[in-house]
Amino acid sequence: MTGRNSESESVCPLSLGYDFYRDPQPVYREIRGNGGKPTEIVLETGMAYLPPNLKAWLVTSYEDVEFVLRDPRFRKSINEAMPLFAANSPAGARAQGRSSLLYDNMANNDPPTHTALRKPLNGAFTSRAITTKRRVVEELAEAALDAVAGTTDFDLVQDFAFPYSISVICDTLGVPAEDRREFHSWVQTITGEATPEALRRDAAKMVDYLSELLRQKRSGGAEDVLSLLARSLDEPQAVAQAYALLAAGYETTANLIATGMLTLEASPEQKKRLWSDRSLVPGAVEEMLRHQSPFNLSLYRYVTETAVVGGTEIPAGSIVFLAFAAANRDEARFVDPDTFAIDKVRREHLAFGGGIHNCIGKHLARLEAEVAFDALIRRCPELAVRTPAESMRWKASPTFRGLRSLLVGPGPAATAEEEA
Ligand code: HEM
Repeated sequence: MTGRNSESESVCPLSLGYDFYRDPQPVYREIRGNGGKPTEIVLETGMAYLPPNLKAWLVTSYEDVEFVLRDPRFRKSINEAMPLFAANSPAGARAQGRSSLLYDNMANNDPPTHTALRKPLNGAFTSRAITTKRRVVEELAEAALDAVAGTTDFDLVQDFAFPYSISVICDTLGVPAEDRREFHSWVQTITGEATPEALRRDAAKMVDYLSELLRQKRSGGAEDVLSLLARSLDEPQAVAQAYALLAAGYETTANLIATGMLTLEASPEQKKRLWSDRSLVPGAVEEMLRHQSPFNLSLYRYVTETAVVGGTEIPAGSIVFLAFAAANRDEARFVDPDTFAIDKVRREHLAFGGGIHNCIGKHLARLEAEVAFDALIRRCPELAVRTPAESMRWKASPTFRGLRSLLVGPGPAATAEEEA
């Protein structure tokens, strides 16, 4: 079906806002019910380079998402994309003001630039390289839980998932842990809904911060990832790459931990089994990735020539997003996809994307989430969600689906030191 007969339909674009960011599945079910074809949308909120009310196409079926991931007509180049964002947004020329040096990284470039930017990093993120980090990651999880030991309730997002995933990315990249508060706030501005002024201000702060850090790394002899970048790329390229790793490298994992916990809470039988048998954790994490898909929509792609996807014509000049969270619930690919089943490992999910832009951090993300749940189960035997569903606040982002906070309890037992 994919890439065959063309059939253009004129429909009102679906307007996607906060309800979609909170839970995209009702929209995906509706699209599936209408035949699952690529659909015109408007993304209400802006983020980083994306202006608000951007018109685009949404690809949702597993087969179509796979097709686009591997078709070079669907391009990524931030410089070519900026005028298309302007052309597809009511903000028009003002959309160009969202540009920043930070975005010219591997996630936003095609070969040969993409290859040149990704190649120096591949070795640091292989499964084998990441396995050697297990001990350090375990210590970081223990330290994050020690910080909430003795509490009745704690915020799983702000008190555990973020501090822990930030400490892992700081350790991996070689970012000083004491700078976390600042860069975390800049990343939140850039990847969330922000005014153009706040966006420009925090993007500029991020550029200055990373430039200075990379300058220091260049002359040092450290083996961390930023040192590697500082020595193998020129400064603007290294800054943009460092930003890509930092921005993509902790929030998605933190979001997976929180939405994973929420999903377990909604499936008490699965949660009970997991809490009584930690050997099930790796399978449970894989199923959380499929079922929750923390990267809801892909980053942008665009077509410079009219392309047919799943029988629908996507006109030249269109912006295209791939709905990984929809593909991962596609009944044509997965049996009973809405059911969360920790012992049904379906590794063919697309939570980490696919094709040349597949997630470089996937082994690290899996390790982090496995270590986190292992530690939570061991140290918090009665852990339960306390925040009622109606009070949950979600990030206003089409890409990063995550909770702002999630109260859980009881926390880990007080450590011997604290009791003394
Ligand atoms: C649960 C955690 C994570 C999820 C669900 C996730 C998901 C994804 C997805 C879906 C993509 C492809 C986007 C697209 O094609 O438009 C991607 C790309 C990327 N991810 Fe991750 N990611 C996670 C963790 C990480 C971590 C820990 C790092 C850093 C160490 C990282 C760094 C990146 C980078 C740099 C790219 C761009 C790769 C390229 O374009 O070649 N991610 N990620």
